[in-house]
Amino acid sequence: MAERYLVTGALGCIGAWTVKRLIDDGAQVWTYDLPGDPHRLRLIMSEAALAKVNFIAGDITDADGLEHAVSDNGITSIIHLAALQVPFVRANPILGAKVNVVGTTVVFETVKRHKEQITGFAYASSVGVYGGPDMYPGGELRHDSTLYPLNLYGVFKQANEGTAHIYWLESGVRSIGVRPYVIYGPGRDQGMSSTPTKGMLAAAAGRSYRISYGGSIVFQYADDTARAFIQAARAGADGATVYNLGGFESSIADTVKAIEAVLPEMAGRITFNPVPLATPPHVDGQPLEDAVGSLHWTPLEEGVRQTIAVFRDAISAGKIDVDRILA
Ligand SMILES: NC(=O)c1ccc[n+]([C@@H]2O[C@H](COP(=O)([O-])OP(=O)(O)OC[C@H]3O[C@@H](n4cnc5c(N)ncnc54)[C@H](O)[C@@H]3O)[C@@H](O)[C@H]2O)c1
Repeated sequence: MAERYLVTGALGCIGAWTVKRLIDDGAQVWTYDLPGDPHRLRLIMSEAALAKVNFIAGDITDADGLEHAVSDNGITSIIHLAALQVPFVRANPILGAKVNVVGTTVVFETVKRHKEQITGFAYASSVGVYGGPDMYPGGELRHDSTLYPLNLYGVFKQANEGTAHIYWLESGVRSIGVRPYVIYGPGRDQGMSSTPTKGMLAAAAGRSYRISYGGSIVFQYADDTARAFIQAARAGADGATVYNLGGFESSIADTVKAIEAVLPEMAGRITFNPVPLATPPHVDGQPLEDAVGSLHWTPLEEGVRQTIAVFRDAISAGKIDVDRILA
């Protein structure tokens, strides 16, 4: 049967890239997100490609709405990305629990009802399920390292992983969870860790900017991340597994150098707060590749170059609201 994908949270950063990649591959795609402007999709897709996307406006907590989206359109694969990121959960924990915990349960219930029809199901967890560096004496986060989430967002993601496990044990629902770390690239305009990308946007616009954290992190280009989710959904799962997404470990200082290498005239104008994020900067991404096949990895310098090129084009075409994003 031809692939018919439903992408939840499709108007977000990873969602936009997932939709783009699926359309490029010739798949049929339905989005499922709150009503809103698909500005992130417009940033990276042509009008002709966008015209092939089937947009559904719906709330992930609305079980009837998701049921209709799946049954009316013969969906065969779901990539579940809809969620509130750390700052939004912190600002409104009850809404955060509704979207991230109840919403994900709605997705699992829906897949359970359509188990024969839905052969591919991948969902986003997060590196936020882990604790600080002092909790991992070896330094590397393995996919089966102990989880010690340090905020409600991480607790809710941990609940999603547990939910996946129980739906497999009790109902035979197969799923693959993927834990991204720090996504960067066109469309990454919100969330606690989005400021390196905002630095790239500011540089493209010729403006000074201070990235909100320092230290070293694992960077993942949004396009590569989208491809990983698609590959995970296509691989089909055996049980309810969850894996870390690999990527490029880099210091924020080196990332700023990569920005300056593309735009030497911006030297010294993109700075950063030296305080690191709380998560250790080493993840073992190999088990995901063992499970779903080798992944596509854009070197960080190349990803930064592509991101700045997309931003420069979007700024000249008036397609991006720089003031809103950098505010
Ligand atoms: N961006 C990262 O660095 C990162 C890191 C780890 C995990 N993740 C996870 O990956 C997934 C995608 O992240 P992203 O960066 O694309 O986030 P994003 O904030 O850009 O997009 C999230 C999307 O979810 C949608 N959404 C929110 N509430 C909804 C609701 N009630 N019903 C339907 N849709 C709703 C939003 O409208 C938005 O389009 C999320 O689950 C996120 O937690 C992201």
